[in-house]
Amino acid sequence: MSELPIRAGKASIADLRCDRMKKKKTGSKRSTKMVSPPVGIRPAAQADLTAINQIYNYFVTRSTCTYQEKSEPMTGRQQWFAHHGHQHPVVVAECNGKVVGWGSLSAYHPRAAYRRTVENSIYVHHNHHHRGIGTALMKDLIARARAIGHHAIIAVIDSEQEPSVALHDRFRFRKVGHFRQIGFKFGRWLDVIYMELLL
Ligand SMILES: CC(C)(COP(=O)(O)OP(=O)(O)OC[C@H]1O[C@@H](n2cnc3c(N)ncnc32)[C@H](O)[C@@H]1OP(=O)(O)O)[C@@H](O)C(=O)NCCC(=O)NCCS
Repeated sequence: MSELPIRAGKASIADLRCDRMKKKKTGSKRSTKMVSPPVGIRPAAQADLTAINQIYNYFVTRSTCTYQEKSEPMTGRQQWFAHHGHQHPVVVAECNGKVVGWGSLSAYHPRAAYRRTVENSIYVHHNHHHRGIGTALMKDLIARARAIGHHAIIAVIDSEQEPSVALHDRFRFRKVGHFRQIGFKFGRWLDVIYMELLL
């Protein structure tokens, strides 16, 4: 697992630590020191798909951050992963050997002239929010999008999702569109905003 020399807020990704502290013996002295393993970002593998799907499905039935209403089956997740080749990476944030978040760049539109525009997705395990993992994933995805040669990243966000809007704001995505009442979930109409980052 590579730890990229990129920055998440004031700390670098290499400094970003898992939240759970472990006690470790320090030398001959029997004292203990609190240490926490680092969070790493790496390309996703087939073996990560169960964790990726579990993280995502938690939100399907509880949140408007996705407009999907029924849990994604593993067969669907496998097909999704198979469609993400080199141009459209999927990455995971790993902590202590456990996947705690994931991010992806997907084709924005199947028409050829859209080929250098991608749509991003970032999902962090609900027990690990607001600890810098979303920031780390975003930073990694932007770096990958640039390296691949993409030109624009589009984020499609439910307008009530303040953490997501704040995260995109922080990376200088600009709000470029607001669609009123185009989603209907949990018995009410929902607005969608589009945010865009030109690379
Ligand atoms: C949006 C999401 C990815 C953010 O991940 P995260 O790991 O919690 O984000 P970070 O800890 O890196 O925080 C980044 C910024 O997001 C905002 N943020 C994160 N959690 C927040 C919360 N609970 N309330 C308000 N703002 C929040 C803050 O601006 C924060 O910056 P700060 O730490 O300087 O205040 C996460 O909340 C999530 O997985 N949500 C469900 C899925 C989703 O909405 N995905 C986005 C669709 S692409």
